[in-house]
Amino acid sequence: MSYRVAVLAGDGIGPEVMTQARRVLQAVEQKFNLVIDYQEYDVGGIAIDNHGTPLPNSTLRGCEQSDAILFGSVGGPKWENLPPEQQPERGALLPLRGHFELFCNLRPATLHPGLEALSPLRADISEKGFDILVVRELTGGIYFGKPKGREGSGDQEFAYDTMRYSRSEIERIARNAFIAAQSRRQKVTSVDKANVLACSVLWREVVEQVAAEFSDVELEHIYIDNATMQLLKRPNEFDVMLCSNLFGDIISDECAMLTGSMGLLPSASTNSKGFGLYEPAGGSAPDIAGKGVANPVAQILSAAMMLRYSLNQNAAAQCIEEAVAKALSNGYLTGELISPGSEHTAKTTKQMGDIIVQYINESN
Ligand code: NAD
Ligand code: IPM
Ligand code: MN
Repeated sequence: MSYRVAVLAGDGIGPEVMTQARRVLQAVEQKFNLVIDYQEYDVGGIAIDNHGTPLPNSTLRGCEQSDAILFGSVGGPKWENLPPEQQPERGALLPLRGHFELFCNLRPATLHPGLEALSPLRADISEKGFDILVVRELTGGIYFGKPKGREGSGDQEFAYDTMRYSRSEIERIARNAFIAAQSRRQKVTSVDKANVLACSVLWREVVEQVAAEFSDVELEHIYIDNATMQLLKRPNEFDVMLCSNLFGDIISDECAMLTGSMGLLPSASTNSKGFGLYEPAGGSAPDIAGKGVANPVAQILSAAMMLRYSLNQNAAAQCIEEAVAKALSNGYLTGELISPGSEHTAKTTKQMGDIIVQYINESN
């Protein structure tokens, strides 16, 4: 099969981890006889520098002509003082999500057997492991609601955002969460703030209605504040966590860190046609950018999700996931995963890519 993928590496650690994801993809392409045509486009800060805008038309057109987008990360201190709507995040990433209606964001956070020591959780909690799929609504809520802005001056200055959800927006993301739960452990935990927010009251109502179509899946509701706490106490009791845009953003960073690092969490953002943007859940990590030490696993696993969800290449996706799990359990770890005093020595971004490629080549 032949495919076309738009590669938008972006800023900070984006290009560093993307290089390793491309090597890993090349290894599975050979193994599974895939032909993928990659076209690279500027996005985010680098696009501001080169084209004067974070999302040039050429980038958007390139994405439209592709089967999927493989995205790195955008943003950084250099562009933080621009007007908000011209910054990489609000000027490129959010418009891309909106333009392609990528409403369904999947962020799988798994603490694999044997890797419990990577988690900052207390040993009696981490030893049970966990396998959580955050299903985050990605094109609505307070991120996209209008009006949004800033007015007035001096003491009278004020700013506002609008949290807004329609029934149909809630319904479609809820349905995706229940479908995902059917092939997992048949449980959906819907995260909201229905004791305060009107959006959450509607959210609960619609989620209940969708749940009625899925008698095989258990539904529970939890408030966002309690959810952040219960995740630290009993993460193994969660299966699918269904979240609105902002709550899913927060919950997914917490889940990432519970597995050991932001650098382990991949994500898929898809629309109703199966088109998707695949990116690490974390950002451009300016604190470690340019040093060759960033963890490429989230980017590599995002490439695997792209193979699975947009290119329909399950076997190739699984081959990558197995190679990553093997590398981690054999002690190949980047620096941020290693606790002080441990016997591990930190691997570089490239060394992680090397071992994962090697394991793919050696696999049957
Ligand atoms: P961040 O995710 O970039 O970094 C948070 C912490 O996690 C840092 O200590 C960083 O070093 C660490 N980290 C993240 N990814 C890592 C990796 N692969 N390997 C090792 N450590 C890793 O979040 P931030 O510092 O809040 O944001 C930095 C910039 O990135 C901001 O401009 C932000 O808006 C942007 N951002 C972009 C995206 C995206 O493009 N999808 C996502 C989140 C943040
Ligand atoms: C993420 C990021 C983005 C978000 C930012 C960079 C706009 O934090 O993908 O989680 O908030 O969605
Ligand atoms: Mn985030």
